Amino acid sequence: MVNKKEIARRYDSSAEIYDNRYNFIQDKKYREIFSRVDIRESKAILDVGCGTGTFLNIISETETNGTKFVGIDLSLEMIKIAHEKYPTIDFIVADSDALPIRDLTFSQVFSITHLQNLPKPEQTLHEMIRISTKDTLIVISILRKTWSRDKLSELIMQTNLQINEHWTADVEDIGVLCKKK
Ligand SMILES: C[S@@+](CC[C@H](N)C(=O)[O-])C[C@H]1O[C@@H](n2cnc3c(N)ncnc32)[C@H](O)[C@@H]1O
Repeated sequence: MVNKKEIARRYDSSAEIYDNRYNFIQDKKYREIFSRVDIRESKAILDVGCGTGTFLNIISETETNGTKFVGIDLSLEMIKIAHEKYPTIDFIVADSDALPIRDLTFSQVFSITHLQNLPKPEQTLHEMIRISTKDTLIVISILRKTWSRDKLSELIMQTNLQINEHWTADVEDIGVLCKKK
């Protein structure tokens, strides 16, 4: 298992080219999410492992009622780029296994192509659950080449989340929409 310092280093070194290389494929995943999720009534939205902030920027353009948007990522270089591109959104360098966020803060939480990097994904999920309010929608997508739908379901069943919907789109990731039980 690759350690977190090494993961941060890898993403730091690819941060400059990330958008050019991956935005096209990431955009297909975002479309799958947009077709299932309505963010308009959400008070506070967190993107865990937000990379260069593209997803948050797109959703922040939705007409909302003062929604707060926050992105966190382990890679300082990813976060620097996100800050430069989208100065009105809050971006924080942090480990998703130890979120610097109070309990019950966010009403929607996204983790897009991020969880496959985590050595203990169950711990990451517990953190995402901790900072979520009672009715929070938690949206997770994860790389299909390393994770199967059954493996993801088993992981989620170990938590107090229930899966409301699965998707397996013709893209790299499998995804789930979850809520607290
Ligand atoms: C494949 S990128 C996806 C980025 C973004 N979600 C997107 O849609 O383009 C994975 C991201 O997860 C971040 N990441 C990896 N491990 C992390 C951790 N422990 N805590 C927070 N972010 C992490 C990486 O730095 C990287 O930016």
